[in-house]
Amino acid sequence: MNTILETPRLLLREFIAADCDPLFSVIGDAETMAFYLRPFTRRETEQWIDRNQRRYRGEGHGLRAAVLKGSGEFIGDCGLASQDVDGERLIEIAYHIRRDHWNQGYATEGAQASMRYGFECINAPKLISLIRPENKASRRVAEKNSLRIERQTVRVGLLHDVWAITQEEWMRSQR
Ligand SMILES: CC(C)(COP(=O)(O)OP(=O)(O)OC[C@H]1O[C@@H](n2cnc3c(N)ncnc32)[C@H](O)[C@@H]1OP(=O)(O)O)[C@@H](O)C(=O)NCCC(=O)NCCS
Repeated sequence: MNTILETPRLLLREFIAADCDPLFSVIGDAETMAFYLRPFTRRETEQWIDRNQRRYRGEGHGLRAAVLKGSGEFIGDCGLASQDVDGERLIEIAYHIRRDHWNQGYATEGAQASMRYGFECINAPKLISLIRPENKASRRVAEKNSLRIERQTVRVGLLHDVWAITQEEWMRSQR
């Protein structure tokens, strides 16, 4: 089922093949991907979309296109993705916003809708974000959404903090 999540300013909808160019302008950008090994190529961007379309079918969730409600303009991605973290299958909240839209609260807003979906619709016991300690903007999004650092892990040779929030903690934060 193609659920569209709505926030005050965004729609989070499933990726379509035509999102490749606007997505490439986000994850193909060197500054945006400074905390990754390198920016994505166009081919890898196509594969990113394919991978998430497989996730929608197989897992019922995946990263979604974040588009502005008024204009439909694509400004990034936000959503849930299952990850193997040190042998444990966990659901990650992830986000990448186009650079000219940074620091306007979009990632925080999209992550909140994704958390609600994760806890209320797919009944995840816990959600995490894997964040490089140096990635201050992403850390701040996690903090604003009441995640806390649970531990650290190494992925693709890079140290990451595992930020986490349980369903119970989230429910308490909504009261
Ligand atoms: C991380 C990212 C998604 C945040 O998106 P965003 O829409 O700008 O996020 P928000 O506006 O909701 O919040 C950003 C917060 O970080 C703060 N921030 C940004 N840069 C910062 C810095 N260098 N140091 C400290 N705080 C910083 C902002 O001030 C804001 O906090 P505030 O609301 O308290 O002022 C965006 O920076 C991005 O796309 N980065 C590249 C991809 C990436 O790293 N994704 C996450 C992978 S873990």
